[in-house]
Amino acid sequence: MSPVTEAPLALKFTERSNRIEPSATMAAVAEADKLRQAGVDVVDWTVGEPHFSTPQHIKDAAISAIQNNFTRYTAVGGTPELKAAIVKRHAQDFGSRYKPEEAMASVGGKHVLFNAVQVLVDHGDEVILPVPYWVSFKDIVRYAGGTCVLLETDETKGFRVTAEMVARRVSPRTKMIILNSPSNPSGAVMPPEDMSEVMRIAAQRGIWVMSDECYVYLNYTGREFSIGSEDQYRERMIVVGSLSKTYAMTGWRMGYALAPAPVVAAMQKLQSQSTSNPTSIVQKAAVAALNGSQQCVAEMRSEYIRLRDHIVTGLRAIPGLTCTYPEGAFYVYPNVSGYFGRGGIHSPADFARRLLNDGHVATVPGEGFGTTEHIRISYATAQKELDRGLEKLRGFVGSL
Ligand SMILES: Cc1ncc(COP(=O)(O)O)c(C=O)c1O
Repeated sequence: MSPVTEAPLALKFTERSNRIEPSATMAAVAEADKLRQAGVDVVDWTVGEPHFSTPQHIKDAAISAIQNNFTRYTAVGGTPELKAAIVKRHAQDFGSRYKPEEAMASVGGKHVLFNAVQVLVDHGDEVILPVPYWVSFKDIVRYAGGTCVLLETDETKGFRVTAEMVARRVSPRTKMIILNSPSNPSGAVMPPEDMSEVMRIAAQRGIWVMSDECYVYLNYTGREFSIGSEDQYRERMIVVGSLSKTYAMTGWRMGYALAPAPVVAAMQKLQSQSTSNPTSIVQKAAVAALNGSQQCVAEMRSEYIRLRDHIVTGLRAIPGLTCTYPEGAFYVYPNVSGYFGRGGIHSPADFARRLLNDGHVATVPGEGFGTTEHIRISYATAQKELDRGLEKLRGFVGSL
């Protein structure tokens, strides 16, 4: 027999996977890593995660879960104990009235968003997405076959999303509106009145509202609010929560949904054919986080407020740079268009690239979040790193 010589297989991936792009944030993190590995001292302002360690009582619960052999499959959407803890925490903090069958747990908030969009958004459906948006929303919608209808907001009005603006974007094809307050990347917080009004308009027209409340406990306005407390609109709403930022648990992967029972059932069906349950041990840790003292959350929140004020003051003192005052999450979204036309810089991507390579500060350019004049800075880091970064940034813009 003559040896078979085969041409190398051309790698061809599915049309649906070709619709999505890698995350802009991950790309920025990788660039910074490359430079760091080459021995450069880089200040990393890219990472969207708490710099705190997971609180001890949460870690202890996970350790004890392992020691007690709580290591088997659980119900797909989480144990009854976890569902009860999710519902109880939300009721205590926001006065909501969800039942356990209206709650489920997934492998991070991102997984919840993915499940919800997959079961509700079909080919040809439109999803209204306020700009600036968190990078993954767009790709999650595209993967489902939907089209994002971008809702431009006004920076001078703090990127505010109003019901009136949403109403103008509604079409017969609108299936869903995505809200994210506090917002990644802008840190903008929607006043409860605006959120309720958007909800009212959506409910009237039979449109779903998916409210990403991953930063709901990092709201610095003193008016912490979840749309889940608006009982009258519950039939059309999916509240997405996450333990990642609240309890400094990004690597543990735990998020939850509060939604009408049939939606939860559909999401659980989908999850049963992908990841199955979130890790059993993490579920025990989540119960400890949700049922335990919330003092750790309050402490982290006050530190973020202090860091926010520190960096905003520092940034506003830099000539040519402007920034809105973020009211939540742990990001600042400064406008760098004042430097366009200098040193070959014409876009946020140019600015971020030069700032990394020449100034050794890593940030995420705004293009990934849908805007053309901003960079995103995460201030979830030690104050020393903010000061070092501010000094390098000042030096860099001074050299332009
Ligand atoms: C707005 C927003 N939603 C959801 C997530 C996902 O968080 P996780 O999957 O870690 O719960 C993030 C993480 O950065 C986020 O910024």
